[in-house]
Amino acid sequence: MGLSVVILAAGQGTRMRSALPKVLHQLAGKSLLEHVICSASELGAEDIHVVYGHGGDAVPTTLAHCAVNWIKQHEQLGTGHAVSQAIPYVPAGRQVLILYGDVPLTAVDTLKNLIELGEKSGFGLLTISLEDSTGYGRIVRDESEKVVRIVEHKDATDTERLIKEVNTGILTVSKEKLAQWLERLDNNNSQGEYYLTDIIAMAVADDVKINTASPENEHEVLGVNNKRQLAELERAYQFECANKLMDIGVGLRDPARLDIRGNVNCGRDVSIDINVVFEGQVEIGDNVSIGPNCLVINSKIGADAKIFANTIVENAVIGKNCSVGPFARIRPETELAESSRIGNFVEIKKAKIGVGSKVNHLSYIGDSIIAKDVNIGAGTITCNYDGANKHLTEIGDDVFVGSGTQLVAPVKIGAGATIGAGSTITKEVASGSLALSRSKQMSKSGWNRPQKNKD
Ligand code: UD1
Ligand code: CA
Repeated sequence: MGLSVVILAAGQGTRMRSALPKVLHQLAGKSLLEHVICSASELGAEDIHVVYGHGGDAVPTTLAHCAVNWIKQHEQLGTGHAVSQAIPYVPAGRQVLILYGDVPLTAVDTLKNLIELGEKSGFGLLTISLEDSTGYGRIVRDESEKVVRIVEHKDATDTERLIKEVNTGILTVSKEKLAQWLERLDNNNSQGEYYLTDIIAMAVADDVKINTASPENEHEVLGVNNKRQLAELERAYQFECANKLMDIGVGLRDPARLDIRGNVNCGRDVSIDINVVFEGQVEIGDNVSIGPNCLVINSKIGADAKIFANTIVENAVIGKNCSVGPFARIRPETELAESSRIGNFVEIKKAKIGVGSKVNHLSYIGDSIIAKDVNIGAGTITCNYDGANKHLTEIGDDVFVGSGTQLVAPVKIGAGATIGAGSTITKEVASGSLALSRSKQMSKSGWNRPQKNKD
């Protein structure tokens, strides 16, 4: 049986107190709804239908890159009404799984279990027992523990409200049965809504057994209604990511002070200090150490490299055995070759730094190709921008650039050349030569310093 997933995402989210529709708020760098869409894709769904409404077209526009069928629910008349909006688009013969755009962290394994159960028995319902079940629909079972119906909190009697087992909302059933039951829903209840949950009693009346499964962790079925709940789920998610890294041997100084907003692959014996943030796709080789307060975005860090405190690396490749920081900023399109060193307060942008080359202090290197074993002295600046265009600086092997030099691009420095400190280089420097462009030093002996006026 092929799988169709229907995701309900039309709710208002008033309690978020935000202009942004609730399902577009981000958890670990990705919108709540996108987390759910990703899980549905991982399940191998043939088609994914998202019912949206509140917030208008911001939801489909923002997530236009997702391969889903967008269905607008013009009025939010209840969860049953929302699901019926999707039914005409679900092909015949499909198993349907209902998910929620504001419940972002359901584990794929939990859903796989549920689907298996649903396929075998006709109906799979995900439930959980909560210490405080206030607000949830309660699972009503008969003497033989058979599920007979769900009663919403607002419609429940005092005795029913004592029930701890609640409806998570997530369920699976065949398209044909679902369509048949949805047609018979009414809104004769305290909220005047078409409740999806009413199909449980209909199934029971039709002799379809309701099988229940439960998630391993409570946070898998928690929804986001306000900023506090969003922050709680963010922590739960981050804690899980940290645990996964530690399980494969990564050393974390403090798992509570690491944030992953994307994917991180780590080799052996990687160690990560506190307050490190990873974004996008990050690859980290064996034996890498990352100091405190670093931000690494979409980058590759080669084996044995050391990233020191307060360093930012974005869209860059750091070679094997490199050393970067503290306080370095490695900007997009930078490639550091093996064993190169970038020191404190250095900014590198769109530059290749060759094997064993060093830029150790307070420099800006942009739009440059630097060959191997080059030494760039403190305070060297590539003047790469003329106000209109960017220009290239090319430096050959074994060049020595003295401190406080400006390299006015486009400019080439031949292999083995030496640039005297304090120079402004505007013309090509031949291999093996010394270039020096400094104003002559003037000295006056016995100089009397100006004195402060006395009054
Ligand atoms: C629902 C369940 C309840 C369950 C709880 C779990 C029903 C009737 N009740 O209650 O048994 O314990 O979820 O959290 O299903 N939505 C739409 N369109 C609508 C109405 C809702 O898309 O017309 C979406 C909402 O955006 C939300 C989800 O469906 O993501 C659940 O709706 P909500 O109104 O929050 O249902 P609850 O009252 O919490
Ligand atoms: Ca809810």
